[in-house]
Amino acid sequence: MKNIFGVNTGSEDTNIEIDLNNIPKHIAIIMDGNGRWAKQKKLPRTFGHKAGVEAIREIVKESSRLGVKYLTLYAFSTENWKRPKEEVNTLMKLLVEYLKKEFNELNAQNVIIRSIGDISKLPIICQEQLIDAYNNTKNNSGLVLNLALNYGGRSEIVSALKNIYKELQEGKISLDEVNEDIIENYLYTKGMPDPDIIIRTAGEQRLSNFLLWQCAYSEFWYTNVKWPDFKKEHLNMAIYDYQNRDRRYGGIK
Ligand code: FPP
Repeated sequence: MKNIFGVNTGSEDTNIEIDLNNIPKHIAIIMDGNGRWAKQKKLPRTFGHKAGVEAIREIVKESSRLGVKYLTLYAFSTENWKRPKEEVNTLMKLLVEYLKKEFNELNAQNVIIRSIGDISKLPIICQEQLIDAYNNTKNNSGLVLNLALNYGGRSEIVSALKNIYKELQEGKISLDEVNEDIIENYLYTKGMPDPDIIIRTAGEQRLSNFLLWQCAYSEFWYTNVKWPDFKKEHLNMAIYDYQNRDRRYGGIK
């Protein structure tokens, strides 16, 4: 089954054909460029984040429609606390607003809303909204919208190691049992497949502490488009490119 999509590449319109039988199961996105988008328009940075929420809306809807199973969005990293207080507060406010405003629509789309990261450090209102959103959608069967909040790949690995060490000390597991599968059970992403593709917007080509363990064999896709301008056509283009890559996982064909 094909999904034909018109993409404006800048010079001419091109039709790309997405294979609906080969949709990546897990897409992870580093949503970058909100600040630069706002600066370009001579607006305060927070306007860029507000516009970024609109892009989230569109991309969640399109991912759902295409049958993506997991969509992980890097919404707030462990390093983002270094930003000015006002910007951090706006991001937290936008999260609460998004969960409140979008809940009915997401639920109607059969979406499961969950998070990865240490949410215990977020304002209580954010924690409550996230827990409620999860409890009220956990029985849905559609897209898992995974919001990475106060998330850092290194701190995730440190916390997994500490918990494994504790279980070793308590005799719950033995050293011989520790392997890659066991480690995965102690990560926030326990039970989820690794991302098939990591998308980063706004031109940077780095991981920025995102899903360090999980992206061992993920395909990377970069675009200069800033997150607030990222549309469903761009998502389709990323999926199209992904479908034309040769994934060998270190082996040969
Ligand atoms: C990166 O752009 C973006 C973020 C750090 C935050 C992403 C958050 C949102 C899109 C909205 C809030 C989230 C939810 C889930 C409702 P940047 O500020 O680093 O951009 P810059 O590199 O151009 O400065």
